[in-house]
Amino acid sequence: MSEEELASALGEARLGLAQLRAWHESDFLPLLALPSRRDDLETLWPVLASFQELCTDILVLGTGGSSLGGRALCALAQPHRGLRVHFLENVDPWRFAQLFDSLDLERTGVIAISKSGGTSETMMQLLACLKRFRQSVGNAGIARRFTVITEPGANPLRRLAGEFAIPCLDHDPGIGGRFSALSLVGLLPAAIAGLDIGAVRNGAAEVLEAAMAAGDTRDCAPALGAAVSVALAREHGIAATVFLAYADGLRDTALWFRQLWAESLGKDGNGTTPIDAVGTVDQHSQLQLWLDGPADKMFTIVTAPSLGQGDRIDPEMTARIPELDWLAGRSLGDLLEAHARGTADALAAKGRPVRTMRLDAVDEHSLGALMMHFMLETIIAAHMMGVDPFDQPAVEEGKIRARAYMDATR
Ligand code: PA5
Repeated sequence: MSEEELASALGEARLGLAQLRAWHESDFLPLLALPSRRDDLETLWPVLASFQELCTDILVLGTGGSSLGGRALCALAQPHRGLRVHFLENVDPWRFAQLFDSLDLERTGVIAISKSGGTSETMMQLLACLKRFRQSVGNAGIARRFTVITEPGANPLRRLAGEFAIPCLDHDPGIGGRFSALSLVGLLPAAIAGLDIGAVRNGAAEVLEAAMAAGDTRDCAPALGAAVSVALAREHGIAATVFLAYADGLRDTALWFRQLWAESLGKDGNGTTPIDAVGTVDQHSQLQLWLDGPADKMFTIVTAPSLGQGDRIDPEMTARIPELDWLAGRSLGDLLEAHARGTADALAAKGRPVRTMRLDAVDEHSLGALMMHFMLETIIAAHMMGVDPFDQPAVEEGKIRARAYMDATR
């Protein structure tokens, strides 16, 4: 990309950033107030305490933005520090049955999350759960073990919750599903999994404050990222964006990013196709295409310090195998770090656009920061493309047809 192209894209990104700043100052976009809020978490603690008293396992029902943020956060959980959290997401009958086979329903809680309160998959999951729990713990047991998060006002989910005396927490109507990871939607499952949700918000606050305070648009990482992405797509045919995380703990974050980017920007012929990937695993799956296939992708490589981390290979193990000598005395983390750098360098050497984001650690603070970064970048990119990042009108068509098939096959 030439300096002129970048300067012109940054000029457009500046307008998106100005819009964000105006929203921040006027409290128009509740997402931007979340990082510094703590009052909303007050409703969460009693629910958490009750789950901790009764349960070993929690099922989170919900799909899309009502699931992926919490799932990305919960992937950071340490075993035995919190309850086991299972994200159902789908209506796959086999997985549903398999999961229930492994659960003791006396010791299982359920959180049903749907902003609209009408998503068919989530309603179906909840109805199926209610049937199973009614048989094992009865209606009184359901009221103690279930919680719903949905918008205020009448909707099918709230009505169903009322029938079973299930407590409801409010989903802020001003926060869209895929922008809700930092709200109760993502933070209740995260707290249940034993994570420090204050640290998630602190990380998000740091990125937000830096973006709001940046003097030059070039110094605002989300605006710069949006400018580069949009200009590469427009001027250089970069039609896909690869999120490549060198940490298993970020595998679900890659899925969260994929939804955020795809559903927010894929409108009126705009958008670039997000691809989720994990290093080093995808070096043995997709890297050949990235290096030698069509030059139509940009790459975001996310790493965390791993040098010296993990099991270290005892030199005596490789003493008689010269081919393995280079691994002697080295740790798993050494090899991970070397591959991350090697892949970034190889892509760049091939002329592929690469940016590297280095986290301080794969932890709550860094993930809060990363999520805020990508939400801001997405909103600014949407502004540059002239699309609304907060709706998803095209997906309605498929839902209407699915309903018709259900009716026709009754
Ligand atoms: O990001 C979005 O807005 C969507 O992916 C929704 O989260 C998803 O469709 C689920 O919607 P709801 O929370 O209303 O059940």
